[in-house]
Amino acid sequence: MNKYFFVFILLFFVVCSSVHASKQKLVIAHRGASGYLPEHTLGAAVMAYASGADFLELDLVMTKDGHLIVLHDLTLNGTTDVEQVFPDRAGKDGKYHAVDFNLHEVKQLKVHERSARRGTGQAFPDRFPIDSKIFGVPTLEEMILLVQGLAKSHGRKMGLYIEIKGHDFHRKHHLDPGFKLLEVLKKYGYKNNSDPIFIQSFDSDMLKYLRHELKTRIKLVQLLGENRWRLSDTDFSYLKTEEGMKEVSEYADGIGPWMNQLVTGVDFSGKAQITDLLKIARNNDLLIHPYTFRADRLPSYTSSFDELLDLFFQEVGVDGIFTDHPDQAVRYLEKNSSN
Ligand code: G3P
Ligand code: CA
Repeated sequence: MNKYFFVFILLFFVVCSSVHASKQKLVIAHRGASGYLPEHTLGAAVMAYASGADFLELDLVMTKDGHLIVLHDLTLNGTTDVEQVFPDRAGKDGKYHAVDFNLHEVKQLKVHERSARRGTGQAFPDRFPIDSKIFGVPTLEEMILLVQGLAKSHGRKMGLYIEIKGHDFHRKHHLDPGFKLLEVLKKYGYKNNSDPIFIQSFDSDMLKYLRHELKTRIKLVQLLGENRWRLSDTDFSYLKTEEGMKEVSEYADGIGPWMNQLVTGVDFSGKAQITDLLKIARNNDLLIHPYTFRADRLPSYTSSFDELLDLFFQEVGVDGIFTDHPDQAVRYLEKNSSN
């Protein structure tokens, strides 16, 4: 072999491997730094920013008068004091749907730490005190003003990673959250594939609507759940197959699987047992951003948060993670900077 050709090949591999090695792993602050402050509050977003998170994850629902508010559930019960402020406004099912309230009413509520689904107390007992009602429900626009304001005053840009909840539910109430979202994002300069934003959904119809009908160029991520969770008509068992992932790659840039869909446990030597989903997603050039990494709720096969991060960043090689504890993930990646 010609020696110059040999040197060229060698250099090519060196450059390729360094590009791969330097590819940035993303820390996505799940509902803000929600391990420390009530989820989806301006406070949790500021803490995510100060922790060095790359992206701020937000879930959105709509009010009766068509505003996008930052809230995980379609109902207000789990994270606000709606039952005390509007005791007579429960729906027929006994719940307080956000869509039955206008923005002026939502703004009278205080957000508290998420309450336990059954019984009393909080979902995560060691987190921020549930009786401290010092935060309100932010709108999407307020969150954007916050991150763009911090980019100006501090300099660092934190991206947005937005999920629309209840696409079908809102459509039944004659609301179009996807259309409204793109309208708000355009107003604040988010519209291209290279902009610091992802839109995510469990509902494949929602993502296809955004990509094919509304023609967005923004990066899209197909979240993966389990069919038994009954989130929408999306068939997750199908999406996880070769054919399903190929279909996903036609409208999305990445997938957001539940962490158990990638790793089922560790073997006797501590090595991760990785599912076929990794290979299938990689074959289709899809980014992989699993959820949800919580330092205070570890899977049974790990004994520390760093061990869990090691497993997913080093062994599985994911491109980013959703975490309630962004400070700890940022610290981990700084410590292991060759990742
Ligand atoms: O959006 C990623 C992850 O947040 C999905 O689960 O229920 O927290 O919205 P959820
Ligand atoms: Ca979410």
